[in-house]
Amino acid sequence: MNKSLHVAIIMDGNGRWAEARGEKRVKGHEAGAKVVREITKFCSKHKDIERITLYAFSTENWKRPRLEVEFLMKLLEHYLKNELEEYIKNNVKFEAIGDIRAFSKSLQKLIKKVEEKTSHCDGLVQSLALNYGAHDEILRAVNQLKNEKKDITEEMFSNALDCKDEVDIMIRTGGDHRISNFLLWQLSYAELFFIDTLWPDFNAEELGKIIDQFNIRERRFGGLN
Ligand code: FPP
Repeated sequence: MNKSLHVAIIMDGNGRWAEARGEKRVKGHEAGAKVVREITKFCSKHKDIERITLYAFSTENWKRPRLEVEFLMKLLEHYLKNELEEYIKNNVKFEAIGDIRAFSKSLQKLIKKVEEKTSHCDGLVQSLALNYGAHDEILRAVNQLKNEKKDITEEMFSNALDCKDEVDIMIRTGGDHRISNFLLWQLSYAELFFIDTLWPDFNAEELGKIIDQFNIRERRFGGLN
């Protein structure tokens, strides 16, 4: 079977993970970044996974305390700098979705650099959602298409979005059962998995079990089997 699965993950629970250890919330983000690395490597070796989209910073996350936001920006910078070699080694193409114009010029430059330096990789695509919100993505697509003379088709709309691929498996860690403005268009027929594990405790083994469960679910896409 060709690699075809798109896995999307809401990585929730970093703060609670740290607080349960008597640590500052940011320690949870630091531990979470290590899990991003492990999961990406696992997906790059998996025979069925073509793309993984990870919700790393939402359009709403700016409301967090300034120090936490600054820490997340630094962590992202550190992660991308360190990861470049690993992406190339594992044949992973990096892509950002979301409106990165809100980030510092140096972070924008780094994001573009990692995208360019991995653009030849043709294994897994790792897509990080950065300053991403589905409402914002949809509005940007509408504005891009608003002067179109023809009627807008589903294909045209989908192509105007940052993320052009339908999601097959959506996982949210951390126990909450909500979508939080993530990939609203692309989740239309995704299989949803809400799990209690906090993101820093998530691992490749648990993802493997979710994929096993996905493989026995019957997907009908609104039709009959
Ligand atoms: C949600 O946990 C997580 C985030 C808002 C940020 C996600 C960031 C990472 C996983 C680490 C950095 C990633 C990269 C790619 C460098 P939360 O803080 O809302 O946790 P809580 O619900 O327990 O408070």
